[in-house]
Amino acid sequence: MLKNIQSIRGMHDILPDVAFAWQHLEQTVSTLLAEYGYQEIRMPLLEQTELFHRGVGEVTDIVEKEMYSFKDRNGESLSLRPEGTASCVRACIQHGLLHNQQQRLWYSGPMFRYERPQKGRYRQFHQFGAETFGIPGPDIDAELIALTARLWERLGLANIRLEINSLGVPASRAAYRRLLVDYFSAHANQLDEDSKRRLHTNPLRILDTKNPDLRALVEAAPNLHDHLDPESDAHFAGLRRLLDGMGIEYRINPRLVRGLDYYTHTVFEWITEELGSQGTVCGGGRYDGLVEQLGGKPTAGCGFAMGTERLLELMQAQGSQPEPENTDFYLVMAGEQAVEQGLILSERLRSALPALRLTCNAGGGSFKTQMKRADKSGALYALILGADELAHGQITLKPLRDSEAEQQSLTLDNLAAELQSRLS
Ligand code: HAM
Repeated sequence: MLKNIQSIRGMHDILPDVAFAWQHLEQTVSTLLAEYGYQEIRMPLLEQTELFHRGVGEVTDIVEKEMYSFKDRNGESLSLRPEGTASCVRACIQHGLLHNQQQRLWYSGPMFRYERPQKGRYRQFHQFGAETFGIPGPDIDAELIALTARLWERLGLANIRLEINSLGVPASRAAYRRLLVDYFSAHANQLDEDSKRRLHTNPLRILDTKNPDLRALVEAAPNLHDHLDPESDAHFAGLRRLLDGMGIEYRINPRLVRGLDYYTHTVFEWITEELGSQGTVCGGGRYDGLVEQLGGKPTAGCGFAMGTERLLELMQAQGSQPEPENTDFYLVMAGEQAVEQGLILSERLRSALPALRLTCNAGGGSFKTQMKRADKSGALYALILGADELAHGQITLKPLRDSEAEQQSLTLDNLAAELQSRLS
């Protein structure tokens, strides 16, 4: 016996019984983004590895240990994208989309990270992302946050809290970084291995530690907000004013630093307690230095990405997933002549009723078998065409979901109108 080949750990098939929920989510997100004036952009899944080293940052978890990188047949190092922002910036620079103009863009699709799989954390996962360019003020930060808040409402989601923080500009962050290195160096004996490693590469990430033994030490660390420069202070105050005015609740979390290196000024996350440890459903912020870092002219940037799987899991937990849409009619055809006439009829009906949901029996089968398939299809009605019906120019309409309702004979001449009236 040959061994069955399984999908790769942490990479999942999306089966038909959940695909409808994905479609519903995709539709809702793309409609909302279009309402706010965002345009879709589609980037390749593979990029040069260097893009993520320069874009996401050398000393991030993503670049250090989570990328799927390999050499292609030409010896060039390529990586499956772990996120969309770097690719989006690369595409904008490459195609001149940032010359003296603003952009509001969005994308969706699979991302790849070699993380330890668990509920809500996968190696192939999906994101919806939005990125804006050329808009330096807090107005766009607030718009992006308001857009996500409205999305939760449209999806019927509740209990997602917003945390915001400001990481300042590179100069104030560098000064703060020095303070942190001094502080944690003075307490080096209390640090765990991970934090010791980060002390000289990325000390801000120590603030983000999940290790409860370090909580007290981190709580007592210098607070970035006491060391923000006046420009960052004003930007952050502007954002808070806008959120207050819009009635969007938030919590300021001075320890929110995010796992990617490109952020400046605003960072934010939307977090739920209902998904266990992987409760961040959306994260984003401002990255004013990234375009330049990737070879473009200095350009303001701000965006977010949300995890599709996590949103769907939350919708399921909160009972806000839509019901699957079934077919309306299932055509049962008994006898060779009925099959031929039935298929011709079904194409005529589809032309007359463009949104008709009609599944035609295929592959033969007894009347009983076909009726079983009709039932399993979820159709509301079976349309039955047999020798008798054909002889009288009729078709039988049998309700499948309402045991009280009687079956009826409909004339073939007027069938499109009859079916239409059943749908409305
Ligand atoms: P991120 O925080 O790395 O940010 O990812 C954004 C969201 O993707 C997370 O909040 C989470 O919902 C989802 N996610 C991340 N990793 C996984 C995983 N392994 N399995 C399932 N879901 C996951 C970014 O990627 C930035 N590019 C966001 C951004 C856009 N910032 C500015 N613009």
